[in-house]
Amino acid sequence: MSGFTNDAPLVAAFAKAHRIAVLTGAGVSAESGLSTFRGQGGIWQKFRAEELASMDGFLANPDIVWEWYNYRREVLSKAKPNPAHAALAEWESECEEFTVITQNVDGLHRAAGSMDVVELHGNITINRCLSCDQEMREQPTRWEGKVPLCSCGGRLRPGVVWFGEMLPEDAIMRAIHAAETCDMFISIGTSTVVYPAASLPMIAAEHGAYTVEVNPDETPFSRYANLIMREPAGEAVPRLHELWRKESMARNER
Ligand code: OAD
Repeated sequence: MSGFTNDAPLVAAFAKAHRIAVLTGAGVSAESGLSTFRGQGGIWQKFRAEELASMDGFLANPDIVWEWYNYRREVLSKAKPNPAHAALAEWESECEEFTVITQNVDGLHRAAGSMDVVELHGNITINRCLSCDQEMREQPTRWEGKVPLCSCGGRLRPGVVWFGEMLPEDAIMRAIHAAETCDMFISIGTSTVVYPAASLPMIAAEHGAYTVEVNPDETPFSRYANLIMREPAGEAVPRLHELWRKESMARNER
């Protein structure tokens, strides 16, 4: 949808939006050069999720899993936040409450300056010890074959959530709270097929939030969204932010 600035209900919704929650997926980082998981050229078309993103896969072949995560870390080290990340960070600094809930492990929201970020699926730059459960942010120096080791001698794994694992409890609780209490919820660049993250836009809708979807393609959430922008995030999000800013300035002057 374009030309939405003339849409009176949307403008009214924007004028009232003080508490905004955003859910992002791989699509928000596509314009930073990072692959999405599903669809044309998606990661899960080339690699098997159960071998690379599950505890069974890791235990069966930790070297291959580590090679894959090191490759992704290297790609990520060259990636920069794009205009969608930048607009969200700026938006947060102007809004009463603004929470970015992300399924991404790439850290690009924080790199762009977002402060209130809920990382539902962890962060690829963190390692966790299989023996003592300690988290390590710095890169390990001790390796056994291709598997890095903790100072306790235990094997380290990437600090991301794999298939079949629970999400960090504080992260999912904060995400649900933001979805339940926001007055606008924006779903950006996610296929909304992986739960529990996929339930958040519906939770927001059920609690009365105005809902927006930014995605070039249709998703299961599309038919429930109040506004759909079938555009790349790097174009749509800065425009949404501009519209919100215009409406909130007009509201303050009234
Ligand atoms: P997906 O790859 O499933 O979906 C990405 C979505 O982004 C698709 O709906 C695309 O249409 C859309 N998209 C592509 N380019 C875009 C652009 N420039 N702007 C906006 N949208 C764009 O990624 P997620 O929904 O994030 O989990 O996947 C959810 C989870 O599944 C991931 O966190 C990961 C994966 O398996 C784990 O690894 C646990």
